Amino acid sequence: MEKRQELYAGKAKSVYTTDDPDLLVLQFRDDTSAFDGKKKEALARKGMVNNVFNAYIMERLQDAGIPTHFEKRLSDTESLVKKMAMIPVECVVRNIAAGGLVKRLGVEEGRELSPPTFELFLKNDEKGDPMINESLAETFGWATPAQLGRMKELTFKVNHLLKQLFAEGGLMLVDYKLEFGLFKGEVVLGDEFSPDGCRLWDAKTREKLDKDRFRQGLGGVIEAYEEVGRRIGVIFPS
Ligand code: ATP
Ligand code: TYD
Repeated sequence: MEKRQELYAGKAKSVYTTDDPDLLVLQFRDDTSAFDGKKKEALARKGMVNNVFNAYIMERLQDAGIPTHFEKRLSDTESLVKKMAMIPVECVVRNIAAGGLVKRLGVEEGRELSPPTFELFLKNDEKGDPMINESLAETFGWATPAQLGRMKELTFKVNHLLKQLFAEGGLMLVDYKLEFGLFKGEVVLGDEFSPDGCRLWDAKTREKLDKDRFRQGLGGVIEAYEEVGRRIGVIFPS
């Protein structure tokens, strides 16, 4: 497999074509952003940590029957994935109230959400990723009702699997965002699962061990990501 030209540079990853038209290389960079790109910083080792973390999670999900775009990890910071037509709708599940939900509804941070909530956001940086619903997604052609149904089903299956995996490491999966794409007509999990796109708290102390450390300027961001990884069995290259 040969890495060819850069197709797209996002806020945290760069995407490259390969000599296989069905495959892409995702390169995880150290760049970190929050608040729709208003806060930006390069955090040493983040690209490696997120790439290795994501590879571990994607393999676990794939083994449990979730279709994912993940093929293999190529290096410390690069992974090979299936080239998909991304669906511009982000799926968010929340097990515990935090972040945007607390701000929007005024509910208490840390309140358990039963049943867990499911929300859709449009992937649109210019508009600040606004919240949408199934009706809007269908009307504007962002996703069909069948695709949305499958995305919801897979997002909850991921919740079941990952809540358990993190609980075994003494961690609470507070909330997370997933992105899906289409590969040969099938809805497949894409992008990444890392502490950049979820909230993870220590189950005993409720210490934040995710991107909120960056958002809130708490420090020790990458150390927290590594700690979470180690607790669930990820082995990082030294
Ligand atoms: P955001 O941070 O809001 O997700 P971004 O575009 O800045 O947006 P990055 O993670 O930096 O995000 O860039 C990676 C890009 O690659 C995203 O646009 C993502 O949707 C896209 N992507 C992820 N997996 C695939 C795939 N398998 N095929 C095609 N594109 C993909
Ligand atoms: P949310 O609380 O709505 O957003 P924020 O805290 O960024 O205001 O996000 C819920 C979870 O989903 C949180 O773990 C962050 C993740 N998420 C992203 O990573 N990217 C996104 O574009 C969205 C909407 C959520």
